[in-house]
Amino acid sequence: DEWNEVALNLAKNIEREIMPLFGTKKAGEFVGFSPSGDKTKLVDKIAEDIVLEHLKPLGVNVVSEETGNIDVGSEYTVVVDPLDGSFNFIHGIPIFGFSFAVFKNKNPVYAMLYEFITKNVYEGIPGEGAYLNGKKIQVRPLKEDSISISFYTRGRGIKLAEKVKRTRVLGAIAVELAYLARGSLDGVADVRNYVRPTDIAASYVIAKEAGAIITDDKGNNLKFRLDVTERLNIIAVNDGKLLELILSVI
Ligand code: IPD
Ligand code: CA
Ligand code: CA
Repeated sequence: DEWNEVALNLAKNIEREIMPLFGTKKAGEFVGFSPSGDKTKLVDKIAEDIVLEHLKPLGVNVVSEETGNIDVGSEYTVVVDPLDGSFNFIHGIPIFGFSFAVFKNKNPVYAMLYEFITKNVYEGIPGEGAYLNGKKIQVRPLKEDSISISFYTRGRGIKLAEKVKRTRVLGAIAVELAYLARGSLDGVADVRNYVRPTDIAASYVIAKEAGAIITDDKGNNLKFRLDVTERLNIIAVNDGKLLELILSVI
């Protein structure tokens, strides 16, 4: 309950500061490199500064996409991507979100994904379920003749595109995993060995709680460290049959 307030308050503060920059050149001004080697843009910096300012008084460890790992020896670690989908934001594509996940001694206790344009709030409460604006959500049942997935590849498993009905690669994996959780997509996969824990931590919890199966590129349960420099492959699906299909082509 308290984490929900912290997260929502943060989301609203970030929203207020960044939305005036949506689709502007200014949003994309280069300000430095992140610990994982990505370029930090002005909008990322503005959003992240708000996160750090709000979390500092709480005395928790923070793993944030642009700054990296801040370990203050707390049993709580908050894994944040202040803005997932920066490219979309900067270029006026309305798919991006705020990703916030809390871990206690490495176990998830709360997760939120906030979508700025739709104002949708997705939450994951481990052992309890996943919610969209307070209403329970579930992955949808797979229909094998009309599979819709988001699939990030640089060629690996490209033939998967021939075996599904629709591919939608939206540029904000945190948001796409939330779409899986609510039953809008059947699967989300990224086999570029590129996704970071900050991109997926919150939506991992949300999708899991909504019934998704989430593995690495070998089909083993996905494991990740609460660390900003780690790079991952992820396959998240609503059904084991789709997992088998994806594993058979990659
Ligand atoms: C990006 C998004 C995107 C994924 C990239 C990430 P960012 O995060 O999650 O979906 O394909 O790998 O870097 O940089 O916009 O926070
Ligand atoms: Ca991200
Ligand atoms: Ca980001």
